[in-house]
Amino acid sequence: MTEPTLQGTVEVRSHLGPDDERTLADDVLDGLTRPLKELPPKHFYDARGSELFDAICELPEYYQTRTERLILQARAEEIVQRTGTVELVELGSGSATKTRVLLDAMAAAGTLARYVPVDVSATTVHAVAELFADEYPGLSVIGLVADFERHLKHLPAPAGPRLVPFLGGTIGNFPPGSRRRFLRSLRDAIGPHGHLLLGTDLVKDPRVVEAAYNDSAGVTAQFNLNVLHVVNRELGANFDVSAFEHVAFFDREREWIEMRLRASEPQHVRVEALDLEVAFAAREEMRTEISAKFTPQRLRGDLAAAGMELVEMFTDPDGLFAVSLARIA
Ligand code: SAH
Ligand code: TRP
Repeated sequence: MTEPTLQGTVEVRSHLGPDDERTLADDVLDGLTRPLKELPPKHFYDARGSELFDAICELPEYYQTRTERLILQARAEEIVQRTGTVELVELGSGSATKTRVLLDAMAAAGTLARYVPVDVSATTVHAVAELFADEYPGLSVIGLVADFERHLKHLPAPAGPRLVPFLGGTIGNFPPGSRRRFLRSLRDAIGPHGHLLLGTDLVKDPRVVEAAYNDSAGVTAQFNLNVLHVVNRELGANFDVSAFEHVAFFDREREWIEMRLRASEPQHVRVEALDLEVAFAAREEMRTEISAKFTPQRLRGDLAAAGMELVEMFTDPDGLFAVSLARIA
């Protein structure tokens, strides 16, 4: 048990190391040599990428963030009461602006003991850990700079009933098969007395979804293109970033948004660290991310396949977004 102290405690542990540069190298080698080229999404979030993502969350077209916040505001008290939560272990916490709603509800209920943000973005984990330790007297914060696909075994033992928020629709960035495998891998982190709190974007009018990933200020385009800067810097590649354009469209059959980068002219790219040469034809597209949209049936099916059951699904009046409470079946 971690007992909260009056002044609180803050600690950040990093589990990223040389292995992870290996992961980036392997992912890029794999992706760039496929018949349909692909770059893996977790490498979007360097310091600049995290900043751009925060800007996306403020865009008028990006309804997700404000809608999820409204749902949390309406339901946080009920969620905390029904689960008896004393600690949050937040996956892909980012700058955790919506998480405050949950922490406030826990503080009001007198159960707030610990916050554990987990993110690959070191800058955001450090910032959030410091900020929240400051803002919530007595809170114990353990920040983990870690890959939630590989490092959840390093989580501290539960301090009591645990809630695992996984917000922002990030679960939709997994393809369907890996999504179920990933949910299954969360069972130990959630534990028999804990709950998962999962934010998912919902299936809706394709025009509304497409606008959210094609904002008129071009921030999403910059975010998408930033992954090329990451590969240039980390792996000594020479992508001409100005020669690629952002593409995002809703795949109506699979019900996911697909993000791509399209070469506007033929290109030759060298990736020094991989000793790899890749050619792009004019207008060739490379996939950078999917963002799956959910129906209640899809959500139930995924949870069931992961050995979990839905406790309750909370939505907004327009049915744009859902925040679901689930537990081990
Ligand atoms: N939860 C926040 C941020 C969502 S953006 C919100 O709802 O607004 C997705 C976040 O997940 C980013 O901060 C990114 O750095 C993090 N992330 C993506 N892949 C990850 C991985 N494999 N392991 C840990 N964090 C990851
Ligand atoms: N989890 C976010 C989503 O699926 C990530 C995201 C938003 C994103 N906009 C993006 C990823 C643009 C790549 C490009 O909505």
